[in-house]
Amino acid sequence: MKKDVMIVTGAGQISMAIARRTGFGKKIVLGDKNMDNCNAIAKTMADAGFDVEPFQMDLSSRESILAMIDKALGYGEIKYMVNGAGVSPSQAPIEAILKVDLYGTAVLLEEVGKVIAEGGAGITISSQSGWRMPQLSPEEDRQLAMTPTEELLDLDILKRENIKDTLHAYQMAKRCNEKRVMYECTRWAERGARLNDIAPGIIVTPLAIDEFNGPRGDFYKNMFAKCPAGRPGTADEMATIAEFLLSDAASFVTGSTFLADGGATASYYYGSLQPEK
Ligand SMILES: NC(=O)c1ccc[n+]([C@@H]2O[C@H](COP(=O)([O-])OP(=O)(O)OC[C@H]3O[C@@H](n4cnc5c(N)ncnc54)[C@H](O)[C@@H]3O)[C@@H](O)[C@H]2O)c1
Repeated sequence: MKKDVMIVTGAGQISMAIARRTGFGKKIVLGDKNMDNCNAIAKTMADAGFDVEPFQMDLSSRESILAMIDKALGYGEIKYMVNGAGVSPSQAPIEAILKVDLYGTAVLLEEVGKVIAEGGAGITISSQSGWRMPQLSPEEDRQLAMTPTEELLDLDILKRENIKDTLHAYQMAKRCNEKRVMYECTRWAERGARLNDIAPGIIVTPLAIDEFNGPRGDFYKNMFAKCPAGRPGTADEMATIAEFLLSDAASFVTGSTFLADGGATASYYYGSLQPEK
């Protein structure tokens, strides 16, 4: 019997947790730039009975995204997409954050949206970080949502002189992810498919551990200690949300961002995490 095909970008902890929860019995094409990560996660999953094909890809390159899609289509129509590849503010310079997290995600949603199977579903992973940034104007939001992908990085709001630091670049990228999901879900719907987004808070993964050890380490440790949940989250908790969003139970949910941050954003605006005035 032909298996449903699922493409997963980012051989990281969040992607793996989602793929393990939702990918059993499917053909999983797992892409990552770093083949050490990709082979390690593919092996862990294969040892647990999953059918995983590791594939080297770079989310910041359209050519590479198309090569991964092509690989997946060799196994049949793509029914599911999970985009968990990304770099954090402590891991990469401004240009790389914008190229991977913002442009690359936008291209992936666009290209998968051209081939996604009827009844299919996708999720991408943004971040609570996008929620702490002040509101953008309606026109700026619209630009992030709808500007053709190849023109995105030329927008004034994304010009180097208008991006303060790597955190600001990451926040803009994650805000763009949310807006892009709203725009692209209308195109995915033309193929009978849905697209949603999860905005995690602090989730213990190698990416978060780099943040704990980076220049904003104390800020993040204080954030999870004082947020309503009083702890960081786990990748498996993100998988619980992804399982719902990828299932038929969520057939009325598309274009949505699910904030799952232990209440950190709520506390940042109205609780004990409010910044000092
Ligand atoms: N962990 C957290 O606290 C947290 C919080 C909010 C959002 N997120 C987001 O979740 C997503 C997954 O992160 P994670 O915590 O699972 O991290 P992770 O470090 O476990 O995995 C990220 C993976 O992405 C890969 N990657 C990086 N650049 C790439 C590129 N150009 N092309 C292909 N692969 C690339 C890395 O090699 C790595 O394997 C990211 O988008 C991140 O911004 C994470």
